[in-house]
Amino acid sequence: MMARGRFISFEGVDGAGKSTQVHAVAAALQARGLDFIVTREPGGTPLGEAVRSLVLGQEMAPMTETLLMHAARSEHVLQVIAPALAAGKWVICDRFADASYAYQGYGRGVPLERLAQLGAWVQAGQQPDLTVLVDVAPAEAQRRRERARAADRFEKESLDFFERVRAGYGARAAAEPHRFLLIDGGIEAPVLTQAILQRLAAWLP
Ligand code: TYD
Repeated sequence: MMARGRFISFEGVDGAGKSTQVHAVAAALQARGLDFIVTREPGGTPLGEAVRSLVLGQEMAPMTETLLMHAARSEHVLQVIAPALAAGKWVICDRFADASYAYQGYGRGVPLERLAQLGAWVQAGQQPDLTVLVDVAPAEAQRRRERARAADRFEKESLDFFERVRAGYGARAAAEPHRFLLIDGGIEAPVLTQAILQRLAAWLP
């Protein structure tokens, strides 16, 4: 029987430098000849990408936002993540369930027990083997975002909102220290990439 692939998610507030790390780690895994996919949330399937443009583009109630994120995750788990892992591929995912806790739970005030119920339903037991949390102060993340492209609906949120999101991620990491690799997004990107690869080293063939 083929060994299940590893599931690695990347998290952090908008502007933390998470996507840079996703690309750098993917390039390093590619160089090692590993069989993997890179995907993202919300997104990763045609339905997920359609949901992404909805949730990033228009106002909606926190409950609606929560349900849409989970609808997208459901398709993503069923169509992409679970099959890839079962086929022995690694899955590198730019955001996953912890983002719903941090943004919808801590950021918007959706009860955490609701998120636990939705997660149990939608994730069907799939949980990252490792979650890389790129931590950066929201004020610094905001400065970085202002240098980048136009802001989407989340990126226009207040510093206060992002302080809650960051605290939410911190709480998730504290509750599951073995699953999380907490890295300081203030450090130079190549140094961070090395720290992540070091953590993955034991799993690499
Ligand atoms: P993001 O990874 O920041 O995309 P980009 O780097 O292209 O801007 O993800 C888009 C937004 O979606 C981000 O602001 C966080 C939000 N989000 C949630 O609020 N809940 C979720 O469950 C997920 C997966 C994302």
